[in-house]
Amino acid sequence: MKFFIDTANLQQIKEAQDLGVLDGVTTNPSLMAKEGITGEENIINHYKAICDIVDGDVSAEVISTDFDNIVKEGEALAKLNDKIVVKVPMIKEGIKAIKYFTSSGIKTNCTLVFSAGQALLAAKAGATYVSPFLGRLDDISTDGLSLIEDIRLIYDNYGYETQILAASIRHVMHIVECAKIGADVMTGPLSAILGLLKHPLTDNGLAQFLADHAKAAAGK
Ligand code: E4P
Repeated sequence: MKFFIDTANLQQIKEAQDLGVLDGVTTNPSLMAKEGITGEENIINHYKAICDIVDGDVSAEVISTDFDNIVKEGEALAKLNDKIVVKVPMIKEGIKAIKYFTSSGIKTNCTLVFSAGQALLAAKAGATYVSPFLGRLDDISTDGLSLIEDIRLIYDNYGYETQILAASIRHVMHIVECAKIGADVMTGPLSAILGLLKHPLTDNGLAQFLADHAKAAAGK
């Protein structure tokens, strides 16, 4: 399973990259705004900075919602770096643009996916990644994980190569359950990735090992 970090924060991206387990980054307009990145030039420079840190795919989202401008924006983003994946919303014009990008050899991430039907359409258009937002489904008391299961089943039935990028991950158990289902990628916050390290028995066990070692070294 690939691990992407879902942030535009350069420090957090660097921390995850330094851990040695990072496969990519996803951003969105809200995450960019959260870091105070506004204005075309700053946005472009920020994507370039992310690409310089991370060894893997970097999703950069278009703001346009009509075919011509999605294509224009996406082509400009794709030119920035080979790592860029053009993130396109699950709308009619977006699907047309994904089909176009696919035939032009530009990687895409179909975002804002909340149903198996939408995921099927994204695969038909040839999206590189499809992003079902499981946390946001859980937020409205729907079972986000069952959507990941449905998409896995459908893609396996037909051998679609579109990778399931489980998005809107909130916590460690989301990651573990997605891995059990067979999601290809998960994208989540640094806290969820670092949360995988934690177990109280690990902490207690290590404290005991170090204490026993210190005692033995002191000849006690
Ligand atoms: C996906 O690529 C989105 O950036 C993201 O996962 C949305 O997550 P959120 O629901 O925590 O905003």
